[in-house]
Amino acid sequence: MEMTKIIGTGYARAEHCITNAQLSCVVDTNDEWISSRTGIHTRYVSSTENTSDLAFRAAKQAIQDAKIDPSSIDLVIVATATPDDVTPNVACMLQARLHLAKACLAFDLNAACSGYIFAIQVAAALLKQYHCALIVGAEVLSKIIDWTDRNTCVLFGDGAGACILVPSQRPMYFFARTQGDLKGVLQAQGRPLHPPLINARKTYGYLQMDGKEIFRFAVQAMQEGINHVCQQAQIEPKDIDWIIPHQANARIIDHVARRMQLDLSMFYKNVNEFGNTSAASIAIALACAKAEGKLKPGMKIVLSGFGGGLSYGAIYLEW
Ligand code: ACO
Repeated sequence: MEMTKIIGTGYARAEHCITNAQLSCVVDTNDEWISSRTGIHTRYVSSTENTSDLAFRAAKQAIQDAKIDPSSIDLVIVATATPDDVTPNVACMLQARLHLAKACLAFDLNAACSGYIFAIQVAAALLKQYHCALIVGAEVLSKIIDWTDRNTCVLFGDGAGACILVPSQRPMYFFARTQGDLKGVLQAQGRPLHPPLINARKTYGYLQMDGKEIFRFAVQAMQEGINHVCQQAQIEPKDIDWIIPHQANARIIDHVARRMQLDLSMFYKNVNEFGNTSAASIAIALACAKAEGKLKPGMKIVLSGFGGGLSYGAIYLEW
């Protein structure tokens, strides 16, 4: 448990809105298959903005929303699996572009789709030493998507979400786990040790996954995470005001609600518009929920995520 709260949020859409019908001109798919299997209708894809550009726009909005002087930020964590460059990291790029203080710690964290959850947990612990944290989830997944693979390209989108975290009297409870032995279920290989073999070229670098295996893992992992943080907060899951889950697939969310016997209306969903934006997904969902006036002071909220690693986690917080 840490004593901390979110005081501002922001998000950024990538510039091109791609519909399912448009994707059906690229791969052998159709709107009916994508909508019924995933709940996704559109996703945003970037052609000019890199991860740091989207992160910058989301961060600026979060700073404005929090009504803080950017110079008060002394900790920046960017959750991303698709940084602009190997180095410098996106967080350092933000420190420079936002003209943050020199006495600032800025670093990236990669836990795929669980990255934003893990980043908030790390920041909350560090806020014993620091005063004000900027947390960003940002991805340009289109860089690592194989646009000839209909199994994956219809699912993902680009975007960024951000929040400002400060110490407070409000409790935040955390749960985070990884299962490295399941790494093969979802992978995007990095640079090889040696120049790739001719046969390895086809799949090198692109995101690949076992969709059914992830589906099973996700349903179990989300239940475990939500139950765990609710137990710590001594609250029944049914008494939560909003569960803001990783937006990978509407059917995964529906399954979790059914298995936990929770009202589906408790689960915030915008996967229909954004698709799966990995580390940005919960960050965008939280910022959208706030922008839509859905979050009221005192509300009890659970963030719940899962992703590559495999990794999963949840956070209980009070708004
Ligand atoms: N359009 C049309 N057909 C398709 C498409 C498509 N875009 N993609 C796959 N298919 C075909 C397959 O080739 C297969 O055909 P076959 O049976 O002839 O071999 C068939 O559809 C598979 O259909 P189902 O098995 O019924 O598909 P399922 O209901 O399992 O849905 C899906 C697949 C959507 C991928 C689902 O398993 C899923 O969402 N899993 C979780 C994926 C996920 O969340 N990944 C990311 C999580 S981690 C992170 O966020 C980075």
